[in-house]
Amino acid sequence: MLIKYMRRTHASLLTLITTQTRAMTTTCRNVDWRWLETTPSTMDSAKELLAARGDDDARPLAVATAHQTSGRGTKGRTWTDDGRGNVALTVAFPAPIPLTPITLLPLRVGTVVIDALNDSRLSLKWPNDVLLDGGKVAGILVESDGEAIFVGIGVNVASVPKVPSSGSDRGRRAAKIPGDAVAIAQRIADSLGVWSQGRDDAARVVEDWSARADWMAELELRETGERVKPVRLLPDGRLQVRGAAGERALVADYLL
Ligand code: BTN
Repeated sequence: MLIKYMRRTHASLLTLITTQTRAMTTTCRNVDWRWLETTPSTMDSAKELLAARGDDDARPLAVATAHQTSGRGTKGRTWTDDGRGNVALTVAFPAPIPLTPITLLPLRVGTVVIDALNDSRLSLKWPNDVLLDGGKVAGILVESDGEAIFVGIGVNVASVPKVPSSGSDRGRRAAKIPGDAVAIAQRIADSLGVWSQGRDDAARVVEDWSARADWMAELELRETGERVKPVRLLPDGRLQVRGAAGERALVADYLL
């Protein structure tokens, strides 16, 4: 029994070391790639590392880890990480991004993430959660600091974190999609790097996002608990919905 346990522990330690080494030694073509063994939050690490890098480098900076000790989500919520190897990534854009209005950025990141995960069972829930059978597989957070924009992405690949169903951190139940954390983080970072060098516009975001959304799933409004049906995505990123009192447009951050 003890030998079996030691063998298993030894094997997972080896996997961890191999992952860390691979993550630190491989690079990405389209971003400045950094891997941290652990960090409180890749959002803060990206801000520090970007400031330390200086102004001459216009490449996006990608900071990833398989363990955040103080990850954050939207609206000041905690992004739970149990240290078992889920993806935590921040891509920082020091130069202007090729998309206006900026309210569309979280939706574009949603399409990039779902495409990088490449699983036909996944769908997008407005504005940008990636869902598998109603469970949240990935979440996206956008922050700015001066001119720079920081896009944080968490993907559950190794384990399903426990999400409280009440209190200020309450949220949708989590789910996971199996995959290699380093490869997934690099795929997302690289796609965002390529995207940042191209051109994008509102019509394309609306089309791409709409093709990946689950239009049959009702949304539950966080503040009131009201259930509404999604109708269509508007060119500024708001969602037109139908509720008991008729149609209206939602702005982000109202949902469970
Ligand atoms: C959400 O609330 O759905 C957004 C979650 C965003 C989590 C990611 S993990 C990488 C980055 N670092 C953080 O502290 N948060 C984001």
